Amino acid sequence: MGKKDMEREARLFQRFPTAKAYGEKIRPLLSEKRYRHSVNVAYEAVVLAERVGADVQKAAEAGILHDCMKDTPPLEQLAMVQRAGMHMTELELGAKKLYHAVSGTAYLKEVLHITDPEILNAVRYHTVGREGMTPLERVVFTADFVSADRDYPGVDRMRKKAETDLRAAMIEGLAFTIQDLTKQEVPVHPDTVAAYNWVLMHPEAFENTSAPSQEEG
Ligand SMILES: [Fe+2]
Ligand SMILES: [Fe+2]
Repeated sequence: MGKKDMEREARLFQRFPTAKAYGEKIRPLLSEKRYRHSVNVAYEAVVLAERVGADVQKAAEAGILHDCMKDTPPLEQLAMVQRAGMHMTELELGAKKLYHAVSGTAYLKEVLHITDPEILNAVRYHTVGREGMTPLERVVFTADFVSADRDYPGVDRMRKKAETDLRAAMIEGLAFTIQDLTKQEVPVHPDTVAAYNWVLMHPEAFENTSAPSQEEG
C-alpha cells in the first residue's frame, strides 16, 4: 500500500467514523486489493459529492460498502439475496458480475441493518445505473470509474470530466459499458440503457448539481 493510499484512508476515516466502522466490518470479506479500491471509491465519492451537493457522509458510507460482496462466491451471494427477499431478473441471474450489486444491498439490509434507501440504492445501482439516478447514486457510480486505483486507457480524461462535469462523465461511463458489453455480445442490462438515455435526454436534472470546477491559485 502506497503512502498516498494511506493518507487518503486516514483522511477519509478521520472525517467519517461511520465509514471507518463499516470498512472494518466488511474488510474480512474482501481481498486487500478490493478493500483498497473500496476506500478509494469512498474517497472519490466524497470529493464528487462535495462538488455536486450530494450528502458527503452517505457518499463515504456507500462508497466503502459498494463492492462488499464482490469477493464472495456467487452461490453465497445468491443465498444472501434470497435471505433479503430480493428479486433478480433472468438477465441478472445470467451475469455473475452483476450479482454483487444486489447481494451487496442484501448484505447491507440483513447484516449491517442499514435501512437508508439512498445508501441502499447507491449500492444497488452502482454497476448498472438506472433512469432518474439520484445525486448520491451518480457520485458512487462515477467514483467507481475514476477511483485512484483505476488505470484503464483514458482514465485521466475521465477524471477530468468527473471533476468538471459529472453528467459528461456518466455519459462516457455508460456508453463505455454498453459498448463493452455489445462488443462481447453479452446482454446489456435494461437499466443501463435507461440510464444512458435518461442522462442524455435530461440535462436539466443535472442543473444546480454540477458546480463549476474550483479555480485554484
Ligand atoms: Fe462493483
Ligand atoms: Fe467498485
